[in-house]
Amino acid sequence: MTDPNLRVLISSDRIQARIRELGEQISRDYPDGPLHLICILKGATFFMSDLARALKRDVFVDFMGISTYGKGKTSSGEVKVTKDLDISLEGADVLVVEDIVDSGVTLNYLLHVLEQRRPRSIRIVALLDKPERRLRPVDVSYVGFQIPDEFVVGYGLDYANAYRNLRDVSVLAPHVYES
Ligand code: IMP
Ligand code: MG
Repeated sequence: MTDPNLRVLISSDRIQARIRELGEQISRDYPDGPLHLICILKGATFFMSDLARALKRDVFVDFMGISTYGKGKTSSGEVKVTKDLDISLEGADVLVVEDIVDSGVTLNYLLHVLEQRRPRSIRIVALLDKPERRLRPVDVSYVGFQIPDEFVVGYGLDYANAYRNLRDVSVLAPHVYES
């Protein structure tokens, strides 16, 4: 079934191949000991579960819920933690796993929150990055793909909570969210 409102930008095969590369690179970059993966709900859950299995090392998995007071397409700038972590970060090597970095508002805020919990190190991995859209600086250590300024869905990314379960990342036709 093909949806006329979707145009594939990054195929499932390319996503999976890139995740294997990221898994190898990240595995090499860290010393021994568990790596704390913090998955940002909900979009990053698909990426996190594939990335965790591509890492050749021990990992802990935890989840954080963030709301940005924006419905649909953009973040509004105000950020709130809606679900906090279960596991302490003190002295831990932390890797924040995000689906996409857009304005940078969410991750800029989140890093300030997490740094106060005294991890040993903290880095970010994002499947997608839209550098043109940045409003706040964010240092993203690992990026799957840089993409142009287009609204994408699939592989965890949603529009109004739909499309998350698609295997590819696709551009959503603007008339869907502009109407
Ligand atoms: P930021 O705070 O603007 O960087 O927003 C990041 C969040 O906005 C992501 O975690 C997504 O939830 C959402 N987002 C940004 N761009 C897209 C997109 O193209 N498709 C779907 N969600 C997006
Ligand atoms: Mg998100």
